[in-house]
Amino acid sequence: MVKAIEWKNNAVIILDQTKLPFEIRYTECTDYLMVAECIKKLCIRGAPAIGIASAMGIAIGAQDIKAKSFDDFMNKTQNIMETMLSTRPTAVNILWAVERIKRLLYKHKEESIRKLKKLLIDEARKILEEDIEINKAIGRWGAEFIKDGDTILTHCNAGSLATGGYGTATAPMILAKEQGKNIQVIADETRPVLQGARLTAWELMQADIPITLITDNAAGALMRKGLIDLAIVGTDRTTRKGDVANKIGTYTVAVLCKENKIPFYVAAPLSSIDFNIDSGELIPIEERPSEEVTTIWGHRIAPEGVNVINLAFDVTPFEYVTAFFTEKGAFLSRDIKKLAIKTIDPNSLRLKPI
Ligand code: MRU
Repeated sequence: MVKAIEWKNNAVIILDQTKLPFEIRYTECTDYLMVAECIKKLCIRGAPAIGIASAMGIAIGAQDIKAKSFDDFMNKTQNIMETMLSTRPTAVNILWAVERIKRLLYKHKEESIRKLKKLLIDEARKILEEDIEINKAIGRWGAEFIKDGDTILTHCNAGSLATGGYGTATAPMILAKEQGKNIQVIADETRPVLQGARLTAWELMQADIPITLITDNAAGALMRKGLIDLAIVGTDRTTRKGDVANKIGTYTVAVLCKENKIPFYVAAPLSSIDFNIDSGELIPIEERPSEEVTTIWGHRIAPEGVNVINLAFDVTPFEYVTAFFTEKGAFLSRDIKKLAIKTIDPNSLRLKPI
């Protein structure tokens, strides 16, 4: 399994995904600004992975804080948190990690500054470890919806590289294969920065899962030919009613699935669900530099000065989602908001494959 990020010898080690699949290069981040820069430049990307990176960035930044009181420490940590939150706006996992860390610090406000610094490192490492287990659980629930012989379409990269390990959308694929099901995966190349071609193809080949790469505009034709049985994608932020922000082009895939009566599944850890907002229209959508569209790997493919729209994500309305695969089970959109209510047993809401 490819590791996108780890904490080692008081540094955050990040596999530079901008160089993949041609070069395996790690960046050793020794301060939080380096981590923030890695997130902005997509050296590390994918919602859960940037949540983990932010937690580690906060932990590493906090080690240098000189503070005499809890309030002073908290204020200075807050500045680091703001830096992490300013890196990429769409994935809710950064906010999720920041909120979790704040709760931890307030819970331990009577402890020494030294102890708080240690707690931050432990928590960041815990977030990474937990993410791997969450993905395995998503894999177990999701694999129930994959049949022997299925061909699965995916968009962008919601694999090991986008998480602590195993991935969200890829976990059901990995598990289905382990269960002896004969599966095939089709990956959209995912312009503009080609996460499908460079990352998903690379990691699924390593996992020995048969993978076929297509251009982003080919999925519809393949569906009409009956060559795709289901689609599984990840999410950067899903709202309480089940609207899904994910890599630009996901909405197109969802519409095509509906038109062709193909199930469209979203693998969503609870850390990617924003229970505070209802409508997908409220999700901030990141716009990225125009060069991502006018060039490919530094090579210009469009005339100088052309106008560009480069939205990094789109929103798929909940009506298009057949089911969500979470660590607590598979659910319909209408049940997503209920997962936030502690008194409701997820067992009673869980969806079973037909
Ligand atoms: O711009 P990226 O590469 O960070 O976009 C990533 C995606 O859209 C993923 O599908 C999403 O973050 C889920 S990752 C488990």
